[in-house]
Amino acid sequence: MLIMNFLNSLLTVLELLFVFSNFKPTHGRGFPDEGYYSNNDYDNQEAIDPKIKIALGKLEHAPQWVPDWPDSFVKMGQVSGVALDNTGQLLVFHRAGNQWDASTFTPRHVYQRIGDPPIPDPTILVFNETGELVDMWGQNLFYMPHGITVDRVGNVWVTDVALHQVFKFTPTQRQKPALTLGEKFIPGNDDNHFCKPSAVAVLSTGDFFVADGYCNHRIIKYSPDGTIILQWGKRSGRDPFTLDVPHALALAEDRGQVCVADRERGRVACFRADNGTYSAGYRHWLIGSRLFSVAYSRAHGGRLYVVNGPYSNVPVRGYVIDFTSGRLIQTFAPEGGFRNPHDIVVTPDGVSAYVAELDPHRVCKFVDEGLRNQSKLEKVTTQTPVKPTATIGE
Ligand SMILES: *[C@@H]1O[C@H](CO)[C@@H](O)[C@H](O)[C@H]1NC(C)=O
Ligand SMILES: *[C@@H]1O[C@H](CO)[C@@H](O)[C@H](O)[C@H]1NC(C)=O
Ligand SMILES: *[C@@H]1O[C@H](CO)[C@@H](O)[C@H](O)[C@H]1NC(C)=O
Repeated sequence: MLIMNFLNSLLTVLELLFVFSNFKPTHGRGFPDEGYYSNNDYDNQEAIDPKIKIALGKLEHAPQWVPDWPDSFVKMGQVSGVALDNTGQLLVFHRAGNQWDASTFTPRHVYQRIGDPPIPDPTILVFNETGELVDMWGQNLFYMPHGITVDRVGNVWVTDVALHQVFKFTPTQRQKPALTLGEKFIPGNDDNHFCKPSAVAVLSTGDFFVADGYCNHRIIKYSPDGTIILQWGKRSGRDPFTLDVPHALALAEDRGQVCVADRERGRVACFRADNGTYSAGYRHWLIGSRLFSVAYSRAHGGRLYVVNGPYSNVPVRGYVIDFTSGRLIQTFAPEGGFRNPHDIVVTPDGVSAYVAELDPHRVCKFVDEGLRNQSKLEKVTTQTPVKPTATIGE
């Protein structure tokens, strides 16, 4: 009897140990959701690790943060996306009163608050270059905003991870999408369903790419009417088509490339935009194992702009990478540092970069004054498509 009791208690202890060993923190690897990071416990990596300090010291610290941009009277929720329109205005996609946290989705990726009305506030805010709010819209449409982009003719494309849908809005009709892909609130992995799609990128031909996304780990290319042309990407494997949360897209159209922020693998992966063939991968120990977003500017030989994320034992910063050599050339952060940068966009001349941050809820602007001066002299030349040579760490 005594022995049975003892065995029972031992079993309880073992079960508890088992439960705790399986307990996953609500952030970091293994929990690809977002907006739920507690403390800034990755702050002092520079001070802790002299190797990081030395590596950062070798980079040019640019572009420079522009304080007090935008207008501080404009309040935002979690800022998930930023995009530039063709006049240089910044579109900000934010979640107002909604937050993505540990209770937002069921384990099968179904949004838990389907009965609620969509966000009643304008979720798309438009700022001009001096940071004044000049327009806003996107109320009563979305539940959990994620990606945003503007195409050549001014259509605005967004993704909503709760709706599992992708939408296109023309410049004149903002209440009703001109194109909707995916089935409302129904996650899936086929030609008509997404699962938490993260981003859209539109070629000048009108063909477009969707990064799908948090659970399907694939990139889909469509013709302008929404017909699938090709798709690639998978969760497991060791080849370059293995993606773990394709989180953002950037087009390098002058090089015929579409580049993916492969978030949980800490890399940028670039593929031929015409047929999806893998071209190059970019990663760096200083960026770490989580890379949230990527943007591209063809100025100055072609550069990638990236932001990394927390819980990877490196500082959370922005980096500029030379597209051809794959070298890190610049690094940037606001005063006080980033916490959860989520998206980045850069002007075609490479002079201004904007970063969306989930928490704190804000947008940061950075300007490269040196480049601004150079850009005045140097005409941006169109380059013939070339295969990038970088294969950093692949
Ligand atoms: C931005 O908008 C404000 C208010 O409408 C205006 O005063 C300012 O000149 C604008 N800045 C630019 C660069 O257009
Ligand atoms: C894509 O196009 C390039 C250039 O024509 C070719 O070398 C490559 O094999 C193609 N890839 C596929 C998957 O068709
Ligand atoms: C850029 O040019 C302006 C004058 O046109 C000058 O004041 C400024 O110092 C220059 N900046 C850099 C970084 O060269």
